[in-house]
Amino acid sequence: MTKQIPSSSASNGLSRRGIPLLRPTRRTLLTGTTAAVSMALISRYGRASQSGTPFTLGVASGAPTSDGVVLWTRLAPEPLAPDGSGGITEAALVTWEIAADEAMRQVVQRGTVEADRRLAHSVHVEVAGLQPNRPYWYRFIALGAESPIGRTRTAPAATDNVDHLRFAFASCSHYELGYFSAYRHMAADDPDLVLFLGDYIYEYTVSQEYADRTVRKHDGPTAVDLVGYRNRYALHRTDPDLQTLHAAAPCLVTWDDHEVENDYANEWSQVVATTPEAFLRRRAAAYQAYYEHMPLRARSLPHGSTLRLHDRIRFGNLVTFSVLDGRQYRSQQPCARPDTRRGYVAPDSCTERVDENRTLLGFEQERWLFDGFKTADTAWNVLAQNQLIAQLRQKGADGVVGHWTEGWDGYAAGRRRMLEAIDQTRLTNPVFIGGDIHSFWATDLKADLGDPTSKTIATEFVGTSITSDGPPYQRFMEMLPENPHVRFFDSRQRGYVRVDLTRRRMETSFLVISDRRDPKATVSTMKRFVVENGKPGGVAD
Ligand SMILES: [Fe+2]
Repeated sequence: MTKQIPSSSASNGLSRRGIPLLRPTRRTLLTGTTAAVSMALISRYGRASQSGTPFTLGVASGAPTSDGVVLWTRLAPEPLAPDGSGGITEAALVTWEIAADEAMRQVVQRGTVEADRRLAHSVHVEVAGLQPNRPYWYRFIALGAESPIGRTRTAPAATDNVDHLRFAFASCSHYELGYFSAYRHMAADDPDLVLFLGDYIYEYTVSQEYADRTVRKHDGPTAVDLVGYRNRYALHRTDPDLQTLHAAAPCLVTWDDHEVENDYANEWSQVVATTPEAFLRRRAAAYQAYYEHMPLRARSLPHGSTLRLHDRIRFGNLVTFSVLDGRQYRSQQPCARPDTRRGYVAPDSCTERVDENRTLLGFEQERWLFDGFKTADTAWNVLAQNQLIAQLRQKGADGVVGHWTEGWDGYAAGRRRMLEAIDQTRLTNPVFIGGDIHSFWATDLKADLGDPTSKTIATEFVGTSITSDGPPYQRFMEMLPENPHVRFFDSRQRGYVRVDLTRRRMETSFLVISDRRDPKATVSTMKRFVVENGKPGGVAD
């Protein structure tokens, strides 16, 4: 448990220029070839840490509001210690500082928190009392060492006129399948905000079965307990490109399945023999490790196997982000087969798929979301979640034509309720963003999903994976004529999505890296779309 201790020397004003700071005995310096590549390309705020420091996992910030932000780090002098301790067992005091300038001379607040083994020596500082809509810089000092400096940003005040916001979103970063060059290029784009939309880690290990596809091995077995999940997050956070990104901008986060187990739904494992009781024990470990490694507020502290993740964040009068949890509360997947609960393409005879009593978000989260629609007053409304929203009539690998059971197509009534609520509340400029499917999509979400001529209610953009394999390109292209609401699809490259948002329009760029096997991969634009204010549906630019 991290406890915030007010510091007698903390300052709350911007005027504390030049106050004496704790002097570090050891400065973190950038080392290593990959890190050098990162540095050559982007700002100084992302730095891999040298060995011996407790700050091997970098720093991060998140959940920005108009007066605050969450600052995160975790002490881990041996980040992959086999016992999951990070190489530290005693409680330690961690000093944090947040400054108005990048040289950290104008420290505006400082405090000390205690980090201990109960939350793996992670630190989540909820800073309040900051100025809206401006950058801040922060660092931590502990065990005689100083962390890298991170840059963050507060949101504009609720009524502020905001001209422009740049955000980027990403999903599906499988460590073994490639380098995280996409993360490095995201940081170089200098976004105001980054959204991680799921599969931030993968619980399983590819190299055990597919040695030929492994780009970089790790020693971790499939994560099933707290030690396993902690070390899988720690592994990812040792990546210099991911550290660079977290240190460059605040983030909002949601999860998909691989933060726990492939294709899980609520309390149900994909493995039929696993009881809900046993699976919830595993989920509790996974959720705890997630909290420990993400810049989440204290209200997201896990209680047993539950963690409150869904959230609503606004940026002035420009945009509200509704961050949704698509895994924790969902109904069991429809028409499960007797031998496995994995998703599959179910034929039209599966009527459970459209059962009104089933939900992907859970009925409580649906209510929270729809209530938010009623009071929304920003120019744009972005719904950030984990999966493709659009319906997709498709042919499975076995030739069966139908719908995928473990995405929104498996919860059609919940999707219809959500789109109806958007329509009935006349939610302004709704745009869904998502991940999971390892491919780029631009779709029109129609009032009547079965009628391509019905009005478009919302726009959807889905980003490809950071490294994970894409689905078969040809097979999916062949199904597109049956899915005329899909404006664009491509699964052949890895990358991310960048969005430039103004009151007038939303410009969405699909960015791709040259090669996931190349730690120095370059980036290029595959496609750009524009959504004009008041005209749902992305138009190719
Ligand atoms: Fe994925």
